[in-house]
Amino acid sequence: LTRGPGVPDLAGRHVVISAGGTREPLDPVRYLGNRSSGKQGYALARTAVARGARVTLIEANTGLPDPAGADIVRAGTAVQLREAVLEAAAGADVVVMAAAVADFRPAAYATGKIKKKDGQEPAPIELVRNPDILAEVAAGRVRPGQLVVGFAAETDDVLANGREKLRRKGCDLLVVNEVGERKTFGSEENEAVVLAADGGETAVPYGPKEALADTVWDLVAARFR
Ligand code: CTP
Ligand code: CA
Repeated sequence: LTRGPGVPDLAGRHVVISAGGTREPLDPVRYLGNRSSGKQGYALARTAVARGARVTLIEANTGLPDPAGADIVRAGTAVQLREAVLEAAAGADVVVMAAAVADFRPAAYATGKIKKKDGQEPAPIELVRNPDILAEVAAGRVRPGQLVVGFAAETDDVLANGREKLRRKGCDLLVVNEVGERKTFGSEENEAVVLAADGGETAVPYGPKEALADTVWDLVAARFR
């Protein structure tokens, strides 16, 4: 056996994984956030440790217990996550962006709690774009042979959107899953298709998030050989 769970086929490799979901503060008590639980990213971290990798897990707002054997970095917002990922990526063989990064953040942060006033309509919230961390890491590959893996959560035209996103982001692998209110988020299981820049497509049937994680590492390890 030279691949698969339990085989140290990532020994000597440094992998960087982002997990969770960013929160973009509006005022000291409120934020814009998303439903990502971080469980898929943590499953990637656990399985990479089991396969012998040195693992840096950059987590955003998961509240999950630290996985054994990984270095943990905390990042709350998209801007903080970008800083942490770019710093860790400089020494990484693989970067996996499993985190759900907010596409937009409030244009202004109110240092005091925003208050309502009787008879007054709420003010609209102005948003600005956050940096695209995955695209930046993929475009800026500092290390030769570095692999970049993205995730895509889609609700419609899942595969067509996934293929387009893989090209647009410039990553090597894109894990595409269909999401909805009762699908994927917070669950222990997942179902996905892993699209590769070389045209490969690997369907992963509904099952534990560890199984999807191990499929990602199989595809990564195969590209290192
Ligand atoms: N991502 C990122 N930085 C962002 C937004 C997304 O690094 N500002 C990464 C995510 O971590 C994920 C991948 O890009 O690995 C795809 O995220 P997704 O939200 O599906 O893609 P977007 O390009 O934001 O497109 P959409 O408009 O469909 O949300
Ligand atoms: Ca997005």
